[in-house]
Amino acid sequence: MQIISHIADLRTRLSDERAIAFVPTMGNLHEGHLDLTRLARDHGDCVVASIFVNPLQFGPNEDFDKYPRTLETDCARLQGLADVVFAPSVNEMYPAQQTVFVEPPPIADGLEGAARPGHFRGMATVVLKLLNIVQPQVALFGKKDYQQLHIIRQMVTQLNLPIRIIGGETVRAADGLALSSRNQYLSEAERSEAAFLYRALQGMRQAILQGERNFEQLEKRAVEALAARGWLPDYLAVRNQSDLQPASPVQGNPAQRELVILAAAKLGSTRLLDNVEVCIVD
Ligand code: PAF
Repeated sequence: MQIISHIADLRTRLSDERAIAFVPTMGNLHEGHLDLTRLARDHGDCVVASIFVNPLQFGPNEDFDKYPRTLETDCARLQGLADVVFAPSVNEMYPAQQTVFVEPPPIADGLEGAARPGHFRGMATVVLKLLNIVQPQVALFGKKDYQQLHIIRQMVTQLNLPIRIIGGETVRAADGLALSSRNQYLSEAERSEAAFLYRALQGMRQAILQGERNFEQLEKRAVEALAARGWLPDYLAVRNQSDLQPASPVQGNPAQRELVILAAAKLGSTRLLDNVEVCIVD
């Protein structure tokens, strides 16, 4: 496995590769990233992982400075899974002030887009830069960042990039907590409470499967349940999988509906994200 930090060197290394599968990350790798990297092997002869904490996608009061940077351990974890690790410096990615940005599509407006202004613009901009640098045939992203995955898919389609985007399933701890680099900010007590977010989502999912169609009430009850346990919920939202618009309580014609329940909530100073999909027939 080669570790490369300069764009010119990466281009030279990849110049003869015809089936590159790419896993962009911000490092501090956990089993979720490793799972994506294993999946990448099924989709390419050359697996490239990038590790770059992108300043452009953090707001002024967010955790850019304290975001865990663990390059050595990350590279050790990627041994045997990736062929190339691209780990550029901020200066390599942004040698001059970045004044050209990707304007995210409307699907970016609500949920995380509303809670974190500018986040998706910075994310989409760096992802486009990375895709242009690596020029993969396939790129893989986790479904835990559900809205991000939608935005990337739309960007790639609408900007005519010849890249197949694959979403990897969320990997969870034994108690259900979705793996995330930010979990390590949690205190011991917070860590055991953190799995409640997934339980709340599962509770909503069960209620929908058992016939509950008053989604607003369901969302309200879940927000209240979290708040009662000391969480600060941003949203628990029942949406259509396809466009992330609020799911309508009743459908005109009998049809199968593919929904997703998305959640973001703060526990102490740590903001956690999760989602579960649910399919119903009305
Ligand atoms: O999901 C992430 O880790 C980041 O948003 C990404 C896609 C690597 C862009 O910085």
